[in-house]
Amino acid sequence: MARLFSYSLAFDREAKVYDEGFNALASTQALRARIWRELRAIFPPGSLVLDIGCGTGQDAGALAEHGVEVVAIDVSPAMIERAKAKHDGKPASPVFGVCDVRDAADHLPRLLDQGGRHARTIDGIVSNFGALNCLASLEPITRLADQYVRPGGVLVLVLINRWYLRELARFELRRLRPNGSPVRCGGHEIPLFYHPPRALRWPGYSLTRVMALASFSRSDVQTRWPLNRLGDHYLAVLRKDGSRRPFHRLTTASGVPRPRTEPASTRRTHSAIRRRSAASWVT
Ligand SMILES: C[S@@+](CC[C@H](N)C(=O)[O-])C[C@H]1O[C@@H](n2cnc3c(N)ncnc32)[C@H](O)[C@@H]1O
Repeated sequence: MARLFSYSLAFDREAKVYDEGFNALASTQALRARIWRELRAIFPPGSLVLDIGCGTGQDAGALAEHGVEVVAIDVSPAMIERAKAKHDGKPASPVFGVCDVRDAADHLPRLLDQGGRHARTIDGIVSNFGALNCLASLEPITRLADQYVRPGGVLVLVLINRWYLRELARFELRRLRPNGSPVRCGGHEIPLFYHPPRALRWPGYSLTRVMALASFSRSDVQTRWPLNRLGDHYLAVLRKDGSRRPFHRLTTASGVPRPRTEPASTRRTHSAIRRRSAASWVT
């Protein structure tokens, strides 16, 4: 399939200004502080966590300072270079690696070995500020979680939302486009895919918390249904319960019929994801 754009090139260029621009904004720092409170409450010191799309390593560094061991990956070599430079020489430094999350299942053992843990299971996955919006399908995340996250482990995912009340009220519907909506990043146009919280209802995982971010100031409103589904971003917490069959085994591309146990809403979401994956401009 023709590669009409490259996320890694776009984010390589963005890396040059990421810390001085986006990361330096007061609004970004306030949001990160909120997200770090959640992360620290969920992952005690000594946990082992994978950070997907880590950028320049802000979250990975904060978790490491909290005593969490972190393997952090990003598809952009320039982001990883900056992340390594920022954390070089610090007593608790994450292991950073250039890796596309879609290939991460193959590379994670090597990265875990590099961190000296030689573990083959991890306590959780984090991904912040829309890294997962760069994926047309979330299937690589479920595959990783199925393979590596221990039963009872937790995923904390921050995505840009599909249903943003303020834009909907102005009849701005760009986030609803089925093939992704292009945004400017590092001088390139890249499509983002706006997965709503219901796209995270995976068999074998419980969606235990959805919190609206960058939208409502009152914390009781941020987590109250349905407003928690209508923020600009949302933070989702999923717990792997391990008691049911994992997602990717239910949705093989070989056309094996899915068991009747899969709810209709999940079937609709997954067929929408597959339609989006087939879009011509997706790498
Ligand atoms: C908006 S930035 C967020 C960075 C970081 N999580 C943060 O909180 O600052 C999105 C990041 O996702 C990375 N990314 C995009 N697609 C990816 C992929 N397929 N695999 C790994 N990283 C990816 C980009 O390179 C970029 O660094």
